[in-house]
Amino acid sequence: MSLTDNTSLHLPKENPEAEDFLPLLGTDHVELYVGNAKQAAHYYMSAWGFQPVAYAGLETGLKDRVSYVLAQDKIRLVLTSPLKPGGEINRHINDHGDGVKAIALWVDDATKSYEETVKRGAESYMEPKTLEDANGKVVVSGIHTYGETVHIFVERSEYSGPFLPGYRAWNPFYQPEPLGLKYIDHMVGNVGWNEMNKWCEFYAKVMGFAQLVSFDDKDISTEYTALMSKVMSNGNGRIKFPINEPADGRKKSQIEEYIEFYNGAGVQHMALATDNIIETVTALRNRGVEFLTVPVTYYETVLDRVGEIDEELAPLRDLGILIDRDDEGYLLQIFTKPILDRPTMFIEIIQRKGAKSFGKGNFKALFEAIEREQESRGTL
Ligand code: FE2
Repeated sequence: MSLTDNTSLHLPKENPEAEDFLPLLGTDHVELYVGNAKQAAHYYMSAWGFQPVAYAGLETGLKDRVSYVLAQDKIRLVLTSPLKPGGEINRHINDHGDGVKAIALWVDDATKSYEETVKRGAESYMEPKTLEDANGKVVVSGIHTYGETVHIFVERSEYSGPFLPGYRAWNPFYQPEPLGLKYIDHMVGNVGWNEMNKWCEFYAKVMGFAQLVSFDDKDISTEYTALMSKVMSNGNGRIKFPINEPADGRKKSQIEEYIEFYNGAGVQHMALATDNIIETVTALRNRGVEFLTVPVTYYETVLDRVGEIDEELAPLRDLGILIDRDDEGYLLQIFTKPILDRPTMFIEIIQRKGAKSFGKGNFKALFEAIEREQESRGTL
């Protein structure tokens, strides 16, 4: 998957059930509304190895907000903060804390993407508009999805600037080394009780996605927590959106905890892919990123479950990296603790070695780790 080297819409179909009225080339960027974009940008650079790309603020003519654009390989993050009281961004941060506002999708035709999705029932967020500067033009449009999250369609084939018109290149002295993060593997949404099917139907009907895999609450309940999850994917398989809803357990589901602190539905985690999870996670840990750990007993039996793997088990165990296998291969994954003060969003690091699934075999061990954290917060 590349942001630049493949604009063909006639790709082999990864998910033959999905429909083609909304060809998506990839994730264009993810925009977070945050309380302090300058310091958040420093966190994603110094802890996560993102590089500075572009900036918009008072110096570029904006009066009420500032945005920093960061990138690592094909992952592009936009961090936006308000500069004055009042307004939508402040209200969003007040309601939700820092969080993902927009999952922007890269398309060939942002006008058609808007028309096709709105025609099928999407609620409009932004009518198509053309943004222009000396570097060319970009067409953007947008629709609402779960909670206050939106999808922005970005058509950028006639643009050569650093990000979008209005942004200027940002080239500070501090240029951190990348840590091997390559692209967004999937973005997961948490929705309220009994809302999973509604939002899966939204992605099917409005965006032409189809379901990839499913499991029910029996698969992923522990003594306390439970949830249900379905994975929706577009036709070429580049965009994967698992949707979770809480399910009844003896105590509070981790999804309920999220919904309570985010004050509604929203993005639970983004999964970032690496080609060398041991190196990437070692570097992240050294820079202060905190991960969920599983009991060492997990590693006593894991190879019985997943079979042979290329990696040595010892470094995986030392770092707490989880392993799972499906019919097509295996995957390695690990999850951070919440990266914000509110127990809301976290980040997954994933390395796929053939597997196309999402680590279902790890969910029980993982959820028990989350429950230990919830217990320490008094929210279990
Ligand atoms: Fe995930």
